[in-house]
Amino acid sequence: MTPHWPLAQLRLHTPELRLVIPTFDQLYQLAELAADGVHPDDQMPFGQPWSAAPPAERARSVLQWHWRSWAELDPEKWTLAFVVIRDGMVVGTQDLMATNFGVGRSVQTGSWLGQRFQGQGIGTQMRAAVLEFAFRGLEALEATTSAFVDNAASQRVSEKLGYLDNGNDQHVIAGRPRRERRFLLPRERWHCPIEVSIDNLTPCLPMLGV
Ligand SMILES: CC(C)(COP(=O)(O)OP(=O)(O)OC[C@H]1O[C@@H](n2cnc3c(N)ncnc32)[C@H](O)[C@@H]1OP(=O)(O)O)[C@@H](O)C(=O)NCCC(=O)NCCS
Repeated sequence: MTPHWPLAQLRLHTPELRLVIPTFDQLYQLAELAADGVHPDDQMPFGQPWSAAPPAERARSVLQWHWRSWAELDPEKWTLAFVVIRDGMVVGTQDLMATNFGVGRSVQTGSWLGQRFQGQGIGTQMRAAVLEFAFRGLEALEATTSAFVDNAASQRVSEKLGYLDNGNDQHVIAGRPRRERRFLLPRERWHCPIEVSIDNLTPCLPMLGV
């Protein structure tokens, strides 16, 4: 507990989930989930294919990715990498990112759940939590996200939460063409489908350029 890192006290609560910036112990649990697997071997939902590495390597890359997000956090460019906790257990991670938020008021999201926790509505609830945090807590004007066209679950979460289609891009990843669908959620379309409480936000605002 230190006043110099108020993000450690930031809490989002939904009816079933708690989202926090992790302690080391929570982060180690998340790394174990990554080692256990995030998706079937023949799929790759991420543009940067970190999850194709052997289990120990991908667990370490999760730790380093979170530590990097702490080290590089700046009011002009930040990533809030929440861990998602259900019934006291770390089940996955939900990121909220922005560049020059104070000017553009635009946020992006990314997420993954341990494979055994997918398909139970958690992904929708954790995305809704950070969207409500962005629109109500930070007064964002828009949120964007994207998913490869073969990622039905991620696209469905975006559609259910009211995002609009925002075009698509083609990428070449590991020597293969991959099409990515973009989504845009303008503030006026946002209606939070669940109750979300946001605790200890005020001291964090200057760190986020608000
Ligand atoms: C994407 C992810 C975070 C979504 O979380 P989740 O908890 O599985 O999602 P939910 O259960 O809340 O909702 C998934 C929706 O997709 C639907 N869905 C899932 N697989 C589907 C398929 N193959 N075809 C059609 N719909 C599908 C579900 O039916 C559900 O919609 P519904 O509520 O209308 O029935 C999670 O699946 C995940 O971690 N996947 C692997 C990593 C990943 O893809 N990350 C995102 C990268 S863009």
